[in-house]
Amino acid sequence: MIESGIKKVGNDLVFSGVQPTGNLHLGNYLGAIKNWVDFQNSKKCIFCIVDLHAITVSENRKKLDEYSKEVAAAYIASGIEPKKSTIFVQSNVKGHSELAWILGCHTPIGWLNRMTQFKDKAGKNKEKAPLGLYSYPVLMAADILLYKSNFVPVGEDQKQHLELCRDIAQGFNRSYNTDFFPIPEPIITGAATRVMSLKDGKKKMSKSDPSDQSRINLTDSNDQIIKKIQRARTDSLPFPENNKSLEDRPEVENLINIFASISEKPSENIIKEYSGNDFKSFKQDLSDLLISKISKISNEMKKLLSDHVYLNSILSDGAKEAKEISEKNIKEIKKIIKFYI
Ligand code: TRP
Repeated sequence: MIESGIKKVGNDLVFSGVQPTGNLHLGNYLGAIKNWVDFQNSKKCIFCIVDLHAITVSENRKKLDEYSKEVAAAYIASGIEPKKSTIFVQSNVKGHSELAWILGCHTPIGWLNRMTQFKDKAGKNKEKAPLGLYSYPVLMAADILLYKSNFVPVGEDQKQHLELCRDIAQGFNRSYNTDFFPIPEPIITGAATRVMSLKDGKKKMSKSDPSDQSRINLTDSNDQIIKKIQRARTDSLPFPENNKSLEDRPEVENLINIFASISEKPSENIIKEYSGNDFKSFKQDLSDLLISKISKISNEMKKLLSDHVYLNSILSDGAKEAKEISEKNIKEIKKIIKFYI
């Protein structure tokens, strides 16, 4: 039975992570963190702040410590409870790098060459892209497999990396004739698994978009939220009448998905409620909803960020818990590979 305040142990392990890149936005919240909260009552949960992933991009290497605390605060402010879930910073637990190397030696380059995120991020000049950006998905597989995780809630864009993780786990198990690694299941749920830019419904909402108008930051003021939603791109057609009429209207679909996710109502209900109207009242209600949700989170984040002692203690306890599990697993992995120990 579910007992609050007691950390679960056992096989049903949930793992996920967010990169500390600063400027957390609605996409990070709706596409990831919000969907993790409910797992805490039924499963052992580990939520990581993936700073080793963040340093694969040079611009991220500036305020890592500050941004890591920001993610920790966002986790807690969004409802992740440190009493129930393990919250820690990836670089504090050396097993991640260690297993990434081991798994890298078991991953054919051909598999990595298929990763679309690398192609997008490396851009035209692949020769100049760092090795770490290329092997990023192997580190991600290591994060997940280090804890023998069973479920990984992620946004739509991480699906391919999860597939790779499953292939790596299966490949390892086959090579050593073992069933040591569970094959983790991606969990892609929620109405907004892909939160898009407010200016271009074909682009992901991103902190690196030069236009701040393209995203809602978790730290935006009420006024900023109202203006951004007012100016969010739609089109000249009337409000859709059903899901079908959303086809080829990515900006409208995105706003409806955001509304659905934040109000926890199915998008069909929202379409029914507003069809026949213009976008004005829909946008007003959407801003109201966002303001009530986001301002709660950002106020809580501010409080947490001013209490260094508390946040540090959460992260150091979390690292301790993560080490306990991971060190035991690393030992077993080394035995399987027949490292001299
Ligand atoms: N790559 C993920 C993202 O950008 C972050 C991440 C790193 C992650 N390691 C993970 C997510 C392990 C889930 C599980 O969103």
